[in-house]
Amino acid sequence: MHLARQYLEQNGFLEIETPILGRSTPEGARDYIVPSRVHPGTFYALPQSPQQFKQMLMVASMDRYYQVARCFRDEDSRKDRQPEFTQLDLEMSFVDMKDIQDMMEGMVSYVWKGLYGKDLQTPFPHIGYRDAMERFGSDKPDMRYGLEFIKLTEVVKDAPYKIFQNILAEGGFVAGMNLKADIAGEKVGRNDVDRYIKYAKKVGLGGLTWMRCVDGKLESNIVQYFTPEILEDIKRTMGAEEGDLLFIIAGPWKATYEGGGFLRKKVAEDLGLVPEDVFQFFWMDQCPIYEVDPVSGKCDAFHHPFVLPVGDPMDENVGGACFDLCLNGNELGSGSLRIHNVEMQRQVFHKLGLDDERIERNFGYFVEMLSYGAPPHGGIAIGVDRLCAILLNKESIRDVIAFPKNKRAVSLLDGSPSKVDDDKLEELQIISLAGDLDIGDIDETEIE
Ligand code: AMO
Repeated sequence: MHLARQYLEQNGFLEIETPILGRSTPEGARDYIVPSRVHPGTFYALPQSPQQFKQMLMVASMDRYYQVARCFRDEDSRKDRQPEFTQLDLEMSFVDMKDIQDMMEGMVSYVWKGLYGKDLQTPFPHIGYRDAMERFGSDKPDMRYGLEFIKLTEVVKDAPYKIFQNILAEGGFVAGMNLKADIAGEKVGRNDVDRYIKYAKKVGLGGLTWMRCVDGKLESNIVQYFTPEILEDIKRTMGAEEGDLLFIIAGPWKATYEGGGFLRKKVAEDLGLVPEDVFQFFWMDQCPIYEVDPVSGKCDAFHHPFVLPVGDPMDENVGGACFDLCLNGNELGSGSLRIHNVEMQRQVFHKLGLDDERIERNFGYFVEMLSYGAPPHGGIAIGVDRLCAILLNKESIRDVIAFPKNKRAVSLLDGSPSKVDDDKLEELQIISLAGDLDIGDIDETEIE
């Protein structure tokens, strides 16, 4: 943080603190809320990020802002998530995406040089969202190793294999991953394949099809459902050679690629394919603005509702001027250009299902701010805990946080969250219904 601050200050950034007690912010998680004693029945929300404040600072001509910001999100805990965490948050006026990325690359390189005395290679490479999902099964792929997926939909579309036929009829896809003979062939036996099939089901894949190249031909328990021509075509498309093992996934686009991504990671870890001491930074971009629920058709914000659409905001397939900074299979940061036009902001809110009344109630001040003539602006936030965990080669961000919470959001140190005395609740006009949290019940392994 010391090095990052130095770099940002040399580049004209001003450190500004923003409120912790405020209104709900739409970063996609639940808010932690704090009751007001002065106005019983009303609540502050702790910030999920300083997003709206930093945009308002741009309208107030602050031009280049940064903050080491504490953020709070009530979401399921994971190895890379804590209920409270720290962002290095910045925002700049009159910039395009490249300006923000150049600034970030400059800052990260400065930190690396200061810590390791080594130069990072910049600019960082870019990969589009669809490409990342379809090649690596992740929007934050670990590109330190191969095991890329290759599409097989066209190749198998006429194969009389019921499972693939049904999936394709429902708009799904088929893709394969080649575990080359020299890295996997011998090491992954029939029992291991069964283990991977089980794992695939656990990570949301309907199943896992496998084929092995033996004596120049593809063999498996299902080859009888494929014509020799189709098998030859699969072999060619996958570049399969003697001893290679193919894992084939099939299903609906997002869930299946995501499951495939977990499988890819598991295979790479099991086979020792993940190199250490390599820092592979890249930008993941070309994301959509909206995520459309396939069942309800409802649009949610892919990032947050302030991202600038690159096209018609009313088109649910419109792309966004946004980008994630990824490192070794982790999303380190997320940034975008913002909407600076009040009408466009309203359109996006409408598309996200907010009517004028709701916009006024939840974002009235923000929309008004945009009407004062906002400069084009954009910014990014980096997860400091995640960065430290990667730098120190730690599996979990809990290992780099002083006094972390466990995965049930409990502090084993002080026993929080805890009950408060009834008189305090009375002052707040809150009635307690819940019993005491029994720390004794909590399994120590949850610290992991
Ligand atoms: P986003 O929600 O992607 O973007 O968060 C930015 C970065 O913060 C880190 N992060 C977390 N770290 C630990 N625990 C968590 N629960 C957690 N949630 C997020 C990640 C993530 O990449 N306002 C936007 C940024 C912007 O557009 O400028 C935002 O908060 O490293």
